[in-house]
Amino acid sequence: MTMINGQIHSGGATLLYEQVALEISGLIEQGTFRAGDRVPSIRQLSRRFDVSINTVMQAYTLLEDQRLIEARPQSGYYVRSRVPEIHEPELPSRSFIKPATVTISELCQQVMRNMMNRDLLPLGRAVPDSQNLPIDKLNRIMASELRRRGEEGVQYHMPPGYERLRVQIARRAIMAGFSTAPGDVLVTSGCVEAVLLALRATCRAGDTIAVESPFYFNFLQMIADLGLKALEIPSTPREGISLEALRYAIEQSKISACLVISNFGNPLGSLMPEERKRELVELLARHEIPLIEDDIYGDLVFGNERPGTAKSFDTKGLVIYCSSFSKTIAPGYRVGWAIAGRFQGEMERLKMMMNIATASPTQLALAEFLATGGYDHHLRGFRRILARNLSQMADAVARYFPAGTRMTRPSGGFILWVEMPPGTDAIRLYHQALERGISIVPGPLFSLSNKYGNHIRLSASRWDEQIERGIKTLGELAMAL
Ligand SMILES: Cc1ncc(COP(=O)(O)O)c(C=O)c1O
Repeated sequence: MTMINGQIHSGGATLLYEQVALEISGLIEQGTFRAGDRVPSIRQLSRRFDVSINTVMQAYTLLEDQRLIEARPQSGYYVRSRVPEIHEPELPSRSFIKPATVTISELCQQVMRNMMNRDLLPLGRAVPDSQNLPIDKLNRIMASELRRRGEEGVQYHMPPGYERLRVQIARRAIMAGFSTAPGDVLVTSGCVEAVLLALRATCRAGDTIAVESPFYFNFLQMIADLGLKALEIPSTPREGISLEALRYAIEQSKISACLVISNFGNPLGSLMPEERKRELVELLARHEIPLIEDDIYGDLVFGNERPGTAKSFDTKGLVIYCSSFSKTIAPGYRVGWAIAGRFQGEMERLKMMMNIATASPTQLALAEFLATGGYDHHLRGFRRILARNLSQMADAVARYFPAGTRMTRPSGGFILWVEMPPGTDAIRLYHQALERGISIVPGPLFSLSNKYGNHIRLSASRWDEQIERGIKTLGELAMAL
């Protein structure tokens, strides 16, 4: 390592960021910085060593991976305690801020297929369990609506979609903190289509899109497929996407859009505080960057107070709000929606070109279900079940997984993100679990840059003895790895 007059110089065998990391780890080793101490800020270090901010971020990411330091939201980086924190909400390591082109992963397709395979115990499947869905009621409503409405059930409802449904969706927007008109709602074939249309309306091939890390793997694949580059911004369970890192990213690269899951995100279960949502919207608006907000889990809060949305702070029409009924009523209905501000017209055009319209029968059934008040009643019971399931699953993970395992404790949704001790190979665990008839989602799918190798995503949408036995088996497999 070469350090001349406090400046680090490249030219040696090690890379510049490795030299910076070595310098800081040396100071920790010597006791200059002790557990709990704040290490110099990225800006300070960048000035001190005369290296770029990017280099310091890379160095800090390396030190996080080595578990020497940790990031605390809005506060900076701190030397980690050597004592493992068990069952504390997880603070994931920060990804290095560097655009990467996603490669379509075979594993991703395999995991998705396995998730819905009825022969496997679904420990990773992020869909509601059928037992908790109002299937009989929906079937009755669907049959009577189709009888009653004649051709409306068989003809196209051209974008923006079936009006009666759009009225119901617009009314419910108040609960998510904003008001909108039925004419501003675009019905889509699920939330995934809403996000796809939003990406196509805001980006062109080669553009960079900022996303959270870890992030829902299907969206990462979609970004790749559109020829976009994903810029992974660290996210934490308590705060969601790091605004500090996003700010740096915006300073350094041209970002065409930002995609976040604002409430009970997948996989961290993050709930962005309202103030952070406002800051996020304002930051992006200052740079005229569209925000694509996925709020698919927002209605699944454990309590009566539904969290607000980034959309409620949108004054420029730059936030594209996306959601669906897949996590709450019926994933197979394939009904979602977007409220897209200034992009509404373009998204309607793209939707018409892609698939003309969303299927009619399910739009009719959902409009009636929402209009007759079945939804709120269903949600109240469903939220209670999910809160109990999640707590039981977390207890079981604590009981059966290796010491040193940590996990998130979300206040809504049904996803649990589990960090096993360093070195536990999540992909090996995934394969071994499959051999035992269990499907999980391995952590590496949630990043583009070889991260989360010792993480898995579990789903607590169902809880019974069989699931508990599955968690026990998984824990035993993890211990033996
Ligand atoms: C964050 C997120 N968005 C969208 C989806 C899929 O939505 P849909 O089935 O409505 O297309 C999922 C499913 O896992 C999800 O977790």
